[in-house]
Amino acid sequence: MWVIVPPLSSTTRMARNPAIDVTRSEQPKVAAAAGQIEIAPVRFGDLRSAAALQKRSFAPRLAYSYLTLLFLHLMPGVRFLVARTGDSIAGIAIGDRNKHQSRVVNICTDPSARRQGIATRLLRQLENELPTGDIVLMAELDNAAARALYTKEGYAELGIIRNYYGRGKDGIWMQKTRTGGKNPTSTRETI
Ligand SMILES: CC(C)(COP(=O)(O)OP(=O)(O)OC[C@H]1O[C@@H](n2cnc3c(N)ncnc32)[C@H](O)[C@@H]1OP(=O)(O)O)[C@@H](O)C(=O)NCCC(=O)NCCS
Repeated sequence: MWVIVPPLSSTTRMARNPAIDVTRSEQPKVAAAAGQIEIAPVRFGDLRSAAALQKRSFAPRLAYSYLTLLFLHLMPGVRFLVARTGDSIAGIAIGDRNKHQSRVVNICTDPSARRQGIATRLLRQLENELPTGDIVLMAELDNAAARALYTKEGYAELGIIRNYYGRGKDGIWMQKTRTGGKNPTSTRETI
């Protein structure tokens, strides 16, 4: 059974316009030239930082709250990864599985740390931790960054759902077909 995450369908409404005003929430804490970054399961103590990163990455109605993240952290079928550098959280990837199909629920990178391969590493690790079956996700049609990321990682665009994210905001279903086994593109744990 899929995990139901409030707000409704926000599990797949993650592809909001990336042009987010970062001044409206906590300022980025991750230096662009951050040193070692480790991809690891989230810890309870990461959740406040993860909630702040959600606010920096998504429009208000799409950002997961602390309570939503806590719920996801506690759900047994959910994989919740962070990209950690020192005490800072540079990225988040969350996924879950329903029978033979897996789903990318949420992924984001701190605005100050983008285009360094962090989301790619998070996504690959998430795929490794959801090793069997196809993986599906939904992205906002005008989220070019997300669509480019997923396309590069082998996801095909399957179809458009009109007004999925609200009036005039269409969603696009993407899927990575897997025959089983782990993601062959997975790489090392740190950069
Ligand atoms: C989409 C997002 C997660 C990408 O994170 P990232 O850590 O910068 O991604 P990566 O560095 O791993 O980029 C991998 C590839 O994705 C593509 N990509 C990433 N950002 C891009 C952008 N702004 N424009 C075009 N392509 C982009 C590129 O192909 C990139 O490879 P390259 O840098 O070698 O050209 C990030 O922009 C983000 O957090 N956006 C806001 C939240 C969001 O929209 N999440 C996705 C919801 S579906």
